[in-house]
Amino acid sequence: MTNQYFVAVIGAGPAGLFGARELANLGARVVLFNRDIKPGGLAEYGIFPNKYTMKNGLRKQFRQIMDLSKLDYYGNVTVGSQGDLTLDDLRGLGFQAILVTAGAQGTKWLGLPGEDLEGVYHAKDVVYYYNGLPPYSQKSFHFGKRCAVIGAGNVMLDIVHYLSRDVKVDEVIAVVRRGPAEVKFDKKEMEYVIANLDQTALDSEIQRVAPIIQAVGQDADAARALILEALPKATPKTTDTRFSFEFLASPVQMIGDAEGKLTQVELEDNILLASNGDTKAKGTGNKRRLDVETVIFAIGDKVDKSFGLPVEWNEFAKNPNPHFPIDGNSYESPVDDVFVGGWSRNASLGLVGIARKDGTNAAKAVWQYLQTKQPSPANVEAVAARLKGLDKPIVLKEDIKKLEAVEIAEAKKQGLVEFKYTDNDEMLQAMGLKETV
Ligand SMILES: Cc1cc2nc3c(=O)[nH]c(=O)nc-3n(C[C@H](O)[C@H](O)[C@H](O)COP(=O)(O)OP(=O)(O)OC[C@H]3O[C@@H](n4cnc5c(N)ncnc54)[C@H](O)[C@@H]3O)c2cc1C
Ligand SMILES: NC(=O)c1ccc[n+]([C@@H]2O[C@H](COP(=O)([O-])OP(=O)(O)OC[C@H]3O[C@@H](n4cnc5c(N)ncnc54)[C@H](OP(=O)(O)O)[C@@H]3O)[C@@H](O)[C@H]2O)c1
Repeated sequence: MTNQYFVAVIGAGPAGLFGARELANLGARVVLFNRDIKPGGLAEYGIFPNKYTMKNGLRKQFRQIMDLSKLDYYGNVTVGSQGDLTLDDLRGLGFQAILVTAGAQGTKWLGLPGEDLEGVYHAKDVVYYYNGLPPYSQKSFHFGKRCAVIGAGNVMLDIVHYLSRDVKVDEVIAVVRRGPAEVKFDKKEMEYVIANLDQTALDSEIQRVAPIIQAVGQDADAARALILEALPKATPKTTDTRFSFEFLASPVQMIGDAEGKLTQVELEDNILLASNGDTKAKGTGNKRRLDVETVIFAIGDKVDKSFGLPVEWNEFAKNPNPHFPIDGNSYESPVDDVFVGGWSRNASLGLVGIARKDGTNAAKAVWQYLQTKQPSPANVEAVAARLKGLDKPIVLKEDIKKLEAVEIAEAKKQGLVEFKYTDNDEMLQAMGLKETV
């Protein structure tokens, strides 16, 4: 056993993988624990399924990281106060620092009446479902003929994409709490769905809200032009799903029938108030209802409160006076040996590239912290023995290679661009980690 800095990285999404690579390249011995069997996080299970080139490009980079000799991978292992291993267990195994890159796995409930009705969902669960992540892939979702999606970000557009092109619903309405000048989505993502956008309805909606947005100095024509910027490169539509916007409206309650199924969402109209160079939505008290069978909240996520670290707002708390700031940011949790990166540090912020940089920076902060300690005998055997003792199959990097090979062969056999198991047992059987029944 040689003396090396010994670090546990929790979560193998882009932040954890690139953070682990940085630590291994700097000379640390790294063990990467991942809840899911496969690495990749939202790059595997969030990015829209048909973005094959992007996903395969990322998988290739992840494979290279997984091949690093100074890195061990344990998939199907959850860390946290209610997980397979706690943070104290990791300390007991000799890890000198813990980098938490577990994403933002909690749900941002708004506490509205009717959130528990059948047909009311949060975007993360839906994207995990259509991307085939167990156990979400095995849950049943009711996507009715008329659906509302709350939010105006790229996730809202991904859901509209799925509902219009894959589920083929009759109508999908994006409910946006502020105005058309404050949508957060990108032109590129709008290209996939703009052919289904009811432009006449958009024009009358913008006309309706124009006086309110003009009152805070916003330009309604410019906002309209920005939304329609995607038109020249619109992907041809494949269904007659009608896509429309309701601006300046917030859900206040969901209403269901006697069987607990969603039938309506009640919205409150908003005005905009100028606030420190930005705007805030304020309810007017005027309420109206939309007949919908499905409501999906695409309003961002929050971290998992049960993980065992202090939470502030939607993310794990950071030490406001970091000892090892990187680019002026704190990657330190209030707990001495625990660091945070990626969406665990900044929930729902940015693209894969941002998560990659954040994980790398977090790793740099960990490395600086380690320089205040002595390297220790990194007891990887003790870690392996502890994991073997868990009452569940543990997935190693060579198992992932096997799984990938089986999935590629299966895709070929079935004549598919891609084949993906959506059941943990099937994945474990394909890797030979569970007996086929
Ligand atoms: C619907 C959607 C679509 C997106 N599309 C794009 C896109 O097209 N292009 C783009 O650039 N970006 C896209 N993004 C953004 C991108 O996916 C994120 O920026 C990035 O994945 C965040 O990385 P992360 O590592 O912080 O978290 P995540 O990707 O969420 O990874 C977290 C990892 O931690 C693991 N984990 C969770 N809890 C635990 C635990 N307790 N113990 C052990 N492991 C745990 C999970 O299994 C997962 O592997 C999209 C995001 C969403 C939500
Ligand atoms: N294809 C892609 O490239 C892709 C796909 C998906 C996601 N992503 C990235 O992943 C990140 C997360 O995306 P996201 O769409 O979840 O987040 P986002 O871009 O922050 O958008 C969240 C939306 O939800 C609204 N919202 C937040 N809280 C609300 C509330 N309480 N009530 C009503 N509306 C509320 C926000 O409105 P306000 O503006 O008023 O706050 C905003 O419109 C983004 O960086 C995104 O670009 C990228």
